[in-house]
Amino acid sequence: MTKNMTIDSDATKLGRTGDSVISADTNSDSDCTAETPSAAKPISPKASPRGLVNEQLLGTSTQCVHSGEQRQKAEGSITAPIYAASTFTFDSTASLLRFVNGEEDREEYGRYGNPNEKSVEAKLAALEGAEEAILYSSGMAAIVGLLMAKLSSGDEIVFFDQCYHRSREFCAKHLSRFGVVTHQVPTGDFEALEAAITPRTKMLVSESPTNPHLTTIDLEKFAAVGKSNEVETLIDATLATPFNIKPIAYGVDYVLHSATKYLGGHNDLLAGVICGRREQLESVRSLRGVLGGVNSPHNLYLLERGLKTFALRMQRHNENGLAIAEFLENHPRVDRVYYPGLKSHPSHDSAAAQMRGYGGLITFTVKDADWEETSRIVDAAKIPRIAASLGGVESLIEQPLVMSYYHCTPEDRVRFGIADNMIRMSCGIEDTDDLIADLKQALQA
Ligand SMILES: Cc1ncc(COP(=O)(O)O)c(C=O)c1O
Repeated sequence: MTKNMTIDSDATKLGRTGDSVISADTNSDSDCTAETPSAAKPISPKASPRGLVNEQLLGTSTQCVHSGEQRQKAEGSITAPIYAASTFTFDSTASLLRFVNGEEDREEYGRYGNPNEKSVEAKLAALEGAEEAILYSSGMAAIVGLLMAKLSSGDEIVFFDQCYHRSREFCAKHLSRFGVVTHQVPTGDFEALEAAITPRTKMLVSESPTNPHLTTIDLEKFAAVGKSNEVETLIDATLATPFNIKPIAYGVDYVLHSATKYLGGHNDLLAGVICGRREQLESVRSLRGVLGGVNSPHNLYLLERGLKTFALRMQRHNENGLAIAEFLENHPRVDRVYYPGLKSHPSHDSAAAQMRGYGGLITFTVKDADWEETSRIVDAAKIPRIAASLGGVESLIEQPLVMSYYHCTPEDRVRFGIADNMIRMSCGIEDTDDLIADLKQALQA
């Protein structure tokens, strides 16, 4: 057998197994209060051979704990063993032939998948209401993997301009070297979005909510623009998470998460995931096997462990986010608060119509403060730690000017809406009263 034969057959073998107890289904969100969008199309559930649980009856917490996992694990272990293996053995050439001929669904080599990855991917697919989830070693690896698989020289892509700056940088600086043209239009401006579409446009990209301005996109409209122009759509829903919104139910093609944030949830790992329809993701999974940006089994174990409490954590993130945003909005030293749960946020109505909760990220500006006075407030906060990132159990605080936009020109900072007196806080799961008391003393400092 030649090397090529192995690789080609492997590419066809990279689909999911029906090995999980609980399969993915869009109607599984039994405790979601947001209305089911009219555009929602049911996704055919993945086979669940053991058929132990009716997915439709499950809430998000139950999915977090059980979905995607084999019911009976090795040696009766309740948790998934860490399969610390770079390769998987065949007991005979006959067994290898069964595999390469597609008669046996199993692991072959760690870059193409391993059992820890399978169960975490199936859990994420269930949570997102997607047919398929593909894990990567970071959120950026996920977006790079998707765009590299989907775009070719001469293609065009249109971004809403508040998308994560590194995603836009990848397109503008790097995809451009391969002949892909990137257009950016103002976030939420659907007329500009339609106007930017040409016969060469292959993908529309947005974040919802955006970072750090927390702008929410009308997902039904976004997906409809894509469908009517026969262009695929991608939503980076890292800030929303599948607890608060499931973009696929609105007709969006691909959902991206930096699993480094709320999905992992403990500020202890990096990972990324792309969710969508199996057929559309075939080339993406195949390219991932070539690019190789995969997770170690140890990292996957951490992610699975984090996901078990994801729904519980999100409830607290949502509660803390709303309570702290309301506190800040009423504080005399605060000028403006960006939080989609506040009626004062320009996209509050769209957020309220689509989201179950609004997450833990809040951005605010300090009244009449320059950057130094603003940094004194950041330094005076005792509970949140000064760090990049968001979505973990520990609250984090930062001044975007100094953290992510320090090396930008003043003109670019104005363009990106980054003010000198701006603070971004990722509310963790600490007690609400403690966080509010701490911010109160920091604002008085
Ligand atoms: C909204 C959003 N998308 C994607 C990413 C990239 O994720 P990662 O840091 O896991 O590569 C980030 C990182 O901050 C992010 O905030």
